[in-house]
Amino acid sequence: ADVRTAAQPPQGPAGERRRSKVAIVGAGAVGSTLAYACLLRGASREVVLFDRNPEKVEAQALDIAHGIAFTPMGTVDGSDDIAICTDADVVVVTAGAKQKPGQSRRELAGATIGIMRELIPRLTAVAPDATYIMVANPVDAVTYASLAISGLPESRFFGSGTVLDSSRLRYLVAQECGVAVQNVHAYIAGEHGDSELPLWTSAMIGAVPLLEWGARSGGGALDEATRNRIADEVVTSAYRIIAGKGATNYAIGLAVVRIIEAVLRDEHLVLSVSSRLDDYLGISDTCLSVPSIVGKSGVNRQLVPVVSDHELSGLQSSAEEVRSITRQFGF
Ligand code: 2OP
Repeated sequence: ADVRTAAQPPQGPAGERRRSKVAIVGAGAVGSTLAYACLLRGASREVVLFDRNPEKVEAQALDIAHGIAFTPMGTVDGSDDIAICTDADVVVVTAGAKQKPGQSRRELAGATIGIMRELIPRLTAVAPDATYIMVANPVDAVTYASLAISGLPESRFFGSGTVLDSSRLRYLVAQECGVAVQNVHAYIAGEHGDSELPLWTSAMIGAVPLLEWGARSGGGALDEATRNRIADEVVTSAYRIIAGKGATNYAIGLAVVRIIEAVLRDEHLVLSVSSRLDDYLGISDTCLSVPSIVGKSGVNRQLVPVVSDHELSGLQSSAEEVRSITRQFGF
């Protein structure tokens, strides 16, 4: 039941590098927006969508494919046959339980991990060499469990983590300080969920440490009350968006396409993806987001920023939160 509507790009000269292929699992709001964002940005020449619902996945692929005349060159296919994911360079898993208004991400753990027990072995059978990016929530626990199920090297099996939350943080700081969002270097670390925390101590705005912004910028300081308000807004924004429209999809689509680009182009981009930690600031045996170098081989290295005692204990309790979920499901 394949849909192949986009014109095939012309064949390159012999020896040309193989076209990149991104497989997106789940054709819901997040998966389909991600496919759309991939094509808009020209992130990959080939994008495929896989979903167990054939009508839905074909409709999403067809709807996106009809716009390909207006994007950089690419193709999009959709199928309910997992073979469509064969030999993908990157597999992104968005399929999982859907968060209802008022529900926390953690409440989805049982259902989503149950889906992964069945799905991950089928995916690794057809795309054994791919880099895997988990997006389904609760993403840290789901990544930890799915990594164990997959048996793949941990560097190429990680979660989108707090890349989105960090962009929410950067957006809010940029607004508050009147600087371009690209000049805000600040990360949300820990669980992609209620226990996440901003790493204020290491944050920079332009060439100025964020904590010294007032004195060094001639503008208003980012005082503690303002920082707490911003941190709170980051944590609660998904709840607000889900209450208003039933899902979040645009910003997560853009965040994940940026991760995909970092992998396919071997960018060594520093992103707060969720990966397995091994004695990271004393934290082991869990997946959490920390600033990490992302390239062709996945998570190359995790960076260790200067943290305050408060930030360190926040990270430790975030690790405990995620561990308590994974333990509950036998991981
Ligand atoms: C988000 O943060 C719900 O995890 C999703 O937008």
